[in-house]
Amino acid sequence: MPRTLDPELRSSLAARIRYYNEMGIYDFYRRETPGEVAALAADAAEPDAVAEPIQPESRTEMSARKDAAVEENIFEVLATKPEQGVSDPAKALKIIREDLGDCTRCPLHKQGRKQIVFGVGNPSAELMFVGEGPGADEDQQGEPFVGRAGQLLNNMIKAMGITREQVYIANVVKCRPPGNRTPEREECETCSPFLMRQIAAIKPKVVVALGAVAAKNLLAMSASMAQLRGRFYDFKPTGMRSNDPDWDGCKLAVTYHPAFLLRDPRQKGEAWKDLQMVMRELGLKPQKA
Ligand code: URA
Repeated sequence: MPRTLDPELRSSLAARIRYYNEMGIYDFYRRETPGEVAALAADAAEPDAVAEPIQPESRTEMSARKDAAVEENIFEVLATKPEQGVSDPAKALKIIREDLGDCTRCPLHKQGRKQIVFGVGNPSAELMFVGEGPGADEDQQGEPFVGRAGQLLNNMIKAMGITREQVYIANVVKCRPPGNRTPEREECETCSPFLMRQIAAIKPKVVVALGAVAAKNLLAMSASMAQLRGRFYDFKPTGMRSNDPDWDGCKLAVTYHPAFLLRDPRQKGEAWKDLQMVMRELGLKPQKA
């Protein structure tokens, strides 16, 4: 809906929204506002649109409901991710990977990464594992969990009566933090919208967060592993449309990171309890010894 706007304000908001889109951020939260903000956003979506002054008569004709509908539309457009409406998860993942590109959005791109480690597995998986970030082996091979921790994860998956190929595996950050340090908050926040989009594309029944970094980033809460484990959370990837007709979120469980279990094997029994809870949810029978 055309409005008279301060051109400088309009173009700076448009530039800001495009900047966020380029960062992979498509979701904007909307407060109840006068229609002006909506018009600014419309200009961002259609930068060539010419703003026209509102005539006093038409202003009085405009019902609040009409305004709300226009705002809704505008923010729908802005929130649309490139994979939106693509029902084939493999195609949706491909689009997300293309959108990620040769990412330089956070400092990790210039801290020695060899390649981006996007994710691996069944695009239609019922079960998805999320780790922290690639290590040296993953950076070398371009696939998550292929080193020692990956071997243990494979054994955990096998013990659940399924194969690595049946699940999907990804990380919070897609580039190796130097020296395998914990990814910084800024790095996680920059990268996690892509993880959220991967989860929304795959639409699993259960996500298992491996370790505190994955748990805290997915659940947006800070608590100890003891507090986080042992229960399911209702999980919806941040930024997912609430009106997605196919999928309304999934369950999320937290367990120990395999690298931690390699350091402290006494905790394997606890991790197995977490996985058994997941198996019950998915109707899986453990592999026979
Ligand atoms: N640790 C992780 O968190 N992710 C990997 O991909 C490998 C090790």
